[in-house]
Amino acid sequence: MNKLEFLKNIEIFKKLRKDSLNNPNRLNYHLMAMGGWLNDPNGLCQFNGINHIYFQHSPFSLGWDNKIWGHYSSKDWINYEEHQPFIFSDILEDKDGAYSGSAIKKDGKIHYFYTGNHKFNDKKYNYDYEGRIQSVIKVTSNDGNTFESKKIILKEYPNFVSVHIRDPKVFLENGIYYMVLGAKNNEGKGIALIYKSKDLEEWDYHFKIESKSYFGYMWECPDLVKIQDKWFLFISPQGIPNQEFNFQNKYQVGYFNLDLDLENKTYQLKEFIEIDKGFDFYASQSFVDEKDRNILIAWMGMADFAYQDEVQGFNHCLTIPRELSVNKYGHLIQKPLVEFLNLREKEILDFKDLKNYNKSVEVILNDLDNELDLVINDELIIKYEMGIFYFEFKNKKTNRDIRKFKLDKLDSLHFYFDSSSVEIFINDGIYTISSRCYFKENYLFFLINNLEYNYKIFKLKNFNIIEFNYEQENNN
Ligand code: FRU
Repeated sequence: MNKLEFLKNIEIFKKLRKDSLNNPNRLNYHLMAMGGWLNDPNGLCQFNGINHIYFQHSPFSLGWDNKIWGHYSSKDWINYEEHQPFIFSDILEDKDGAYSGSAIKKDGKIHYFYTGNHKFNDKKYNYDYEGRIQSVIKVTSNDGNTFESKKIILKEYPNFVSVHIRDPKVFLENGIYYMVLGAKNNEGKGIALIYKSKDLEEWDYHFKIESKSYFGYMWECPDLVKIQDKWFLFISPQGIPNQEFNFQNKYQVGYFNLDLDLENKTYQLKEFIEIDKGFDFYASQSFVDEKDRNILIAWMGMADFAYQDEVQGFNHCLTIPRELSVNKYGHLIQKPLVEFLNLREKEILDFKDLKNYNKSVEVILNDLDNELDLVINDELIIKYEMGIFYFEFKNKKTNRDIRKFKLDKLDSLHFYFDSSSVEIFINDGIYTISSRCYFKENYLFFLINNLEYNYKIFKLKNFNIIEFNYEQENNN
């Protein structure tokens, strides 16, 4: 979809934007497409104080469709500006979608690397081992809003890779730029490829990272991050069989701790840890902001999972941004960005007063002492029993039923509820649970086994979003 096609059909987008205003599931403080579909966060970066959040976007559709990059920016994570789409799928190499990618700053500019998806349709293909090219494409911007041209960086890959290779994440280490790409190899196994470059323009294949035994057929959205001198390889693997306490979604997100010597191409992958245990969390991306914080955002959604009933005008949202750190056991910790303290509007002193407010509420339960039995809106059971944490919707007729996992101890829970979502930070962020939830009521009520809990509740404000003026753009 090129910009002209987008503008020509803008009425479809405007209609969706209008419909979304009447959707009771519309989020108050989570980024969603103003109209249409959103999936992965893309190109996250902070440039001259402004955070840019791009995302996979189909502006005319509520389902999976041709992708372009939508765009928001924010200085403080509370006030946002909506921009017109940043990357359109307007060249042969990205005609079937300007897929996911990342951003890096160099010489006062932002350099973006994304996947151009090009499918052949001259005859029937299996599209796994033939029939498409996924290129790495680069665009360079002085301001995060415009760029001049697209440059094809890579379209041929080592011969052990299938035609699934995408989602470039670029980073700098010891003066050298590296790119990690997710792929499926010719044996049908998920792997990551590392390329290197001195100048972001010329890239050479460096080496591949793979698990010793099969760990899914495709690794999407890889992210290689060093935090407090420890390396983490995030991936969104597909094709991992469900287990009783792990990998309960169709696709997963997590990280390998790894010993890594990038220059000498050696690595050792350790255990894979799933970071989020909810129903809706995928394709996470992290970036380092100007305060040197590692910030992670994910799509609060899941591919190939039915959402139809809840959809009107928009489909999907992003998670709130989380700051990453490492605890003394080498486990990653996610914490809501400290800026979210500014979202607090008012303290609510008692659980029973929740009925006077909408569902945008933060609830903190401390000193749980391994004890919890909670029912929210008579629909969602959250409990901890014999070392197992349960997050369970009573209504088993929907595709959101139960998630459970082993947890050594339970100290605290930090909830962020929005109109149709909940994110829970467990034990100060050792795990999170991110899930859309569609309670019938437009307020929350808690049934709690122990009212003596040490708790705090805050009513939260809405994000303030300045919408892009498409009337004006059409007249230009
Ligand atoms: C992950 C993903 C990426 C791809 C993008 C397409 O959700 O499948 O691998 O680049 O979405 O929208």
